[in-house]
Amino acid sequence: STPRIDVVSIFPEYLAPLDLSLVGKARTSGLVDLRVHDLRDVTTDRHRSVDDAPFGGGAGMVMRPDVWLRAIEATAQHRPDPSAEPTTDPREVLVLVPTPSGVPLTQATLADLATTLASPDVRAVITCGRYEGIDARLVERLADTPGVRAVHELSLGDYVLNGGEVAALAMIEGVVRLLPGVLGNPESVVEESFSQPLLEYPVYTRPADWDGLEVPAVLTSGHHGAVQRWRRDVALTRTARRRPALLRELAVADLDVRDRAV
Ligand code: ADE
Repeated sequence: STPRIDVVSIFPEYLAPLDLSLVGKARTSGLVDLRVHDLRDVTTDRHRSVDDAPFGGGAGMVMRPDVWLRAIEATAQHRPDPSAEPTTDPREVLVLVPTPSGVPLTQATLADLATTLASPDVRAVITCGRYEGIDARLVERLADTPGVRAVHELSLGDYVLNGGEVAALAMIEGVVRLLPGVLGNPESVVEESFSQPLLEYPVYTRPADWDGLEVPAVLTSGHHGAVQRWRRDVALTRTARRRPALLRELAVADLDVRDRAV
C-alpha cells in the first residue's frame, strides 16, 4: 500500500507547496498519498465554528475537541476513484500534533516516521491547530479511540508560529524524502547532517577563484584522503563553535585518532 498522510487545517491553501518540487513529484508518481482537508468541512453549525473561549480566562481562543475528533475520523473515508463509493481505510492512525509544547522533532523522529509509514498497516494524520492550541482532552480521547495507534505532540523548535501548517510542511518534507524510492541517491541521506551528530562541511563549485575569493586549496588538490580529512576537521570545529551540545552525542567509537587532536 502507498504511505498515506492526511493534513487537517482551517487554511488548506497554506499547504499548497505540497504540489511542488520533490514532494509534488512523489505525489504524482504515487510514492505517497497526501491529502489536505478543511477542518470546517466537519462543522455542523451555521457559523462553521471551530473554536471557543478558554476556561480559566486569558487571551485567544481554544480549538474544540469535538470538531477535531470528527475531522480525524472523517479522514478514514477513502474514495479510491471518484466514481466509486467511499470505503473506510483500514489502517491504524498515527496522529501528529504540531505544537510548541511538543517533543522536539529530530532527524531520528523523521526516520522512525518514515519506517512506520512504509509499513502497510499505519497512516498518519497531522492536525494543524492555531497556537493557543486544541482543547487538551482531544489527546486524552484519542489515546483510547479504537484505530488510533499513537499520538505524538511535536515541536519544530523553541519559537512560536501562528499555527501548525508550517510545522506540518516541515514534517512532511522531512519524512517524504526518506520514503522508499523518493530520493534518487540514498547515500545523500546517509551522509547528511544529523544522521551523524555533526554539522555539514562547507561546499564550493566553479569558478575556483570567484571575484578574488578562492576555494580552499585542498579541494582542488586531487588528494581524496586530504579532502576527506579537511571536511571532517571543518565539520568538527563548526559543530564545536555553533552547536557545542551536539559534540556530546558523538560516540568515542566514532572518533578517529586525528579527531582527538582537533
Ligand atoms: N505551532 C506553533 N508553533 C509551533 C512550533 N514551534 N512547532 C510546532 N508547531 C507549532
